Amino acid sequence: MNNTETPKLNSVNTIFGKLEIRQVKASCPLHGEYLANEVWLGGQLKEVSECPECFKLNKAQRAIEEEKARKEETEKNRLARIKESRMPLEYQVKDFSTFITETESQRNALAMAKRFVNGWEKAKAGGYGLLLLGGCGTGKTHLACAIMLELLDKYACLYPRYYKVTEIFSAVRNTYQQGATTNEEETIKFFSSIQLLVIDEVGVQKGSESEKRILFSILDNRVTSKKPTILMTNLGSKDFVWVLGDRLYDRIRSKCVPVLFKGNSMRTPATPDVFD
Ligand SMILES: Nc1ncnc2c1ncn2[C@@H]1O[C@H](COP(=O)(O)OP(=O)(O)O)[C@@H](O)[C@H]1O
Ligand SMILES: [Mg+2]
Ligand SMILES: [Zn+2]
Repeated sequence: MNNTETPKLNSVNTIFGKLEIRQVKASCPLHGEYLANEVWLGGQLKEVSECPECFKLNKAQRAIEEEKARKEETEKNRLARIKESRMPLEYQVKDFSTFITETESQRNALAMAKRFVNGWEKAKAGGYGLLLLGGCGTGKTHLACAIMLELLDKYACLYPRYYKVTEIFSAVRNTYQQGATTNEEETIKFFSSIQLLVIDEVGVQKGSESEKRILFSILDNRVTSKKPTILMTNLGSKDFVWVLGDRLYDRIRSKCVPVLFKGNSMRTPATPDVFD
C-alpha cells in the first residue's frame, strides 16, 4: 500500500498513550485510491480502514453466506421433523404437487386433503380427521403423507406422527415383555396424546380381541379429547365396520370425514429393465 500522509484529523490522550486518527491516501488493488483512516495508539499503527468498495462487497458476500446458512438450517430442521414424523422414506417426497388428478375420485381426494390442511385450525379445535378408504395403490398413503408434509411446513409447532396399525399393536405388546420400560397404559396414553395421528393399514388383518381393545381405547381417547386422526384402510366401508365393530366405527364416523379412493392401483409394476 502506498500511503501518503495528509494532515491529522484529531487526537486524544488516553492512559494507553496518544490516540490519533490520521487520514491517508491508500490504494486498493481492485478499486484504486481511497481515503483510509489510520488508528494510531501510543505511536503505533493499530488499524487501517479498508477500501469502502471492498467493505461493501464483503458485507454483501457475508449477507449471502448468512442467508445460505439460514436456508440450510431451515432445510435441516425440516428434514429432521419429517424423519421424526415416521412417514416412510418413499413418501417423504410425495406432496400435493405430485398427486395426479385424472379421475373424478382423485380430484375429490386431493380437494378434500387440501380442505383439511386449510381447515387445520378447525380440525384441531374439533378433533376432526379423515377416513381414507380404497383399494391398494390408489394413493391413500401418498395423500396422507402429502397432508403431513404440508402441515409440517405450515405449522412449525406441529408434530404429526405416522404409524401402521400393526406398529401400534407391537408397541403395546412390547410392554408385556420382561424388562419393558413402560406399560400398556402409558403406551396407549402416548398414542392418545399425539397431536395428529395418522394410522395406516387399518384392518389389514382381522385383529384379535386385545388388538381391537387397544385400537378402541386409543381412538376413543382421541375422540373424547378432540385429537384429529387420519385413518387409512383397504377395506370397503362394510368390511371396515365389520372388522372394527359398531362401537368403534360409530366413534370414527363422528370425527373422521370419509374419502373414497376409486380406481386401479397406481403402483408401477416392476419390469426386467430395472436391473439394467
Ligand atoms: N393420484 C396419484 N398420483 C401420483 N401417484 C400416485 C397416485 N396414487 C397413487 N400414486 C402412487 O402409487 C403408489 C401407491 O400409492 P399409495 O399411496 O401407497 O397407495 P395406497 O396407500 O392407497 O395403497 C405410490 O408410489 C404413490 O405415490
Ligand atoms: Mg398405503
Ligand atoms: Zn477495494
